[in-house]
Amino acid sequence: MSGRFITLEGIDGAGKSSHVEWLVEFLRGRGHQVVSTREPGGTPLGEKLREWLLAEPMHLETETLLMFAARREHLAQVILPALARGEWVVCDRFTDATHAYQGGGRGLDRHKLAQLEQWVHGDCQPDLTLLFDVPCAVARSRIALANRHLDRFEQEQAQFHERVRLAYLDRAAAHAQRFRVIDGEQPLEVIRLQLEQLLLAAGA
Ligand code: TYD
Repeated sequence: MSGRFITLEGIDGAGKSSHVEWLVEFLRGRGHQVVSTREPGGTPLGEKLREWLLAEPMHLETETLLMFAARREHLAQVILPALARGEWVVCDRFTDATHAYQGGGRGLDRHKLAQLEQWVHGDCQPDLTLLFDVPCAVARSRIALANRHLDRFEQEQAQFHERVRLAYLDRAAAHAQRFRVIDGEQPLEVIRLQLEQLLLAAGA
């Protein structure tokens, strides 16, 4: 049985993190071996890079290169070996986040991003990308309700998050065969039902 590479995406506050655990349990319940991981992070080195990325101000290209450096390590240590073993990989964010945040949000040249993507994982793309979409105002109010310390990206202005959201939707339209856009404002049970159907369709 061959595994699948599933990624979850969305602006901060879209709710994707609360679905990861359920999704992983659903897949395990279907009898699959599942690796649950995240970006930036997923390896000891990647988690150290994550701390810098979420806290330290840095040049946009440094930020982008560190995202891809963490990703290279993640692919080598975790993602590719798990897929080679026939396991499912559920990853909270991947390269679409770099296109949305560093590209859409911060304006990094899209050709540079495409080159880095090609270099780091040209031959490995997610089989299914679940994009949780909510209006930015809804996401902001959810983050405010959580009442916790905000990282460097969450602290950005509303316009930044609007650009990130649009970049995600553009990417979903450009890669429609692997993207599924989920309306994150729907009740939890409705979202779970949709996720279940999408996972079964993906071979779960
Ligand atoms: P996030 O999944 O939001 O972590 P948490 O749910 O714990 O807050 O990811 C952290 C941040 O990293 C998020 O604001 C988006 C940002 N990010 C990028 O800017 N580019 C990337 O390539 C990735 C993977 C994440």
